[in-house]
Amino acid sequence: MPQTLTASPIYDIHKTYLENADQGPFFSGHLPQRQWKPESEWIDFLGYKIASPIGVPAGPLLNSKWTTLAARLGFDVVTYKTIRSYEHPSHPLPNVMFVDTGGAIAEDRIGAAATPLEHPPSSSDELAITNSFGNPSRKPEYLEMDIHLAAHALEKGQLLIVSVFGTGGSLSEAARGFIKAASLAKSSGAHVIEANFSCPNVSSGGALYTDPEASYQIAKEIAEAIKPTPLIVKMGVFKDQAELEAVLLSLARAGVRAVCGINTIPMNVVDAKGNPALGENRLQSGICGDPIRPMALSFIRQARMIIDNHELDLELLGCGGITKAKHFDQFLEAGAGAALTATGMMWDPYLAHRWHTKERQA
Ligand SMILES: Cc1cc2nc3c(=O)[nH]c(=O)nc-3n(C[C@H](O)[C@H](O)[C@H](O)COP(=O)(O)O)c2cc1C
Repeated sequence: MPQTLTASPIYDIHKTYLENADQGPFFSGHLPQRQWKPESEWIDFLGYKIASPIGVPAGPLLNSKWTTLAARLGFDVVTYKTIRSYEHPSHPLPNVMFVDTGGAIAEDRIGAAATPLEHPPSSSDELAITNSFGNPSRKPEYLEMDIHLAAHALEKGQLLIVSVFGTGGSLSEAARGFIKAASLAKSSGAHVIEANFSCPNVSSGGALYTDPEASYQIAKEIAEAIKPTPLIVKMGVFKDQAELEAVLLSLARAGVRAVCGINTIPMNVVDAKGNPALGENRLQSGICGDPIRPMALSFIRQARMIIDNHELDLELLGCGGITKAKHFDQFLEAGAGAALTATGMMWDPYLAHRWHTKERQA
């Protein structure tokens, strides 16, 4: 039976990123009563004990008000949306649009056309959005204070990951940008740092996460700079398993402790007349939500197999299309050590609670 969607998501897609950050999260429900498992049953994860492997990846949690709400709703691995080491504006509205992808996205439809939808779908089975923010960031002084608040609001058994991003005309310049943002996050109280490599970046011919040499160089510098704080690398989809294998081997060698995937899948969102729905400057944007789950699960299965075959010291965090409580289990069974939801939790903030209480929707 399809899960009916809430009419009022915690993120208001008609408001700007800053309005959502300052006025949100828009949640007026009750906070569920949590039955914590005994600490003896908690899980070892990246040097911490976590009460459950359920969480939120970089994106919906814009600041400490958002990370704190997610933690109180039962998400034990919460990720602070990607920051830079300097203030940077968001793309203008629209930042989020509902889309029709024509069902689950298969490999041959990466980069193909998707259609914007005026109204939200009625069920979580069709929950698909495109998001396009451009990695906005607040001032370093704000981030220092706010990441500190985010870390201190967590309960024992919960983990704060801060996602960071760096840019530059060369690999060493990009590495410096990542390190500056990562050091700020670390000194402000982040338990774990995640480097967002799944953005168009400095390496020629594609995103950084698909380039084993460039990934190695930047990841090694970040890992050394933040030691002993664990480093996660955020990845997107791979069309080629050999490419994924080469990158995982490089990252393990660079001292990275975990990988998280997948990021959004790029598509051309065009209206009925064929015009780009987000404007001429944003021809392609990332799709997330229900239709990307098959590719996300396939990423997890492949990555798990490679990690096990080579006995790599890498943890695996899975996300992409978790819109129901039972989907967390699919990721955990596929080999993820933690299962995270972005789009799903924006429209159903009780997803973690449903998992904790074993309310698995059909
Ligand atoms: C509103 C929104 C904002 C996002 N922002 C970021 C981001 O800042 N950094 C990042 O690495 N991923 C970002 N993502 C991607 C998610 O972390 C995740 O990889 C992707 O959405 C797939 O998961 P989902 O299907 O559960 O949404 C964002 C996703 C959403 C929905």
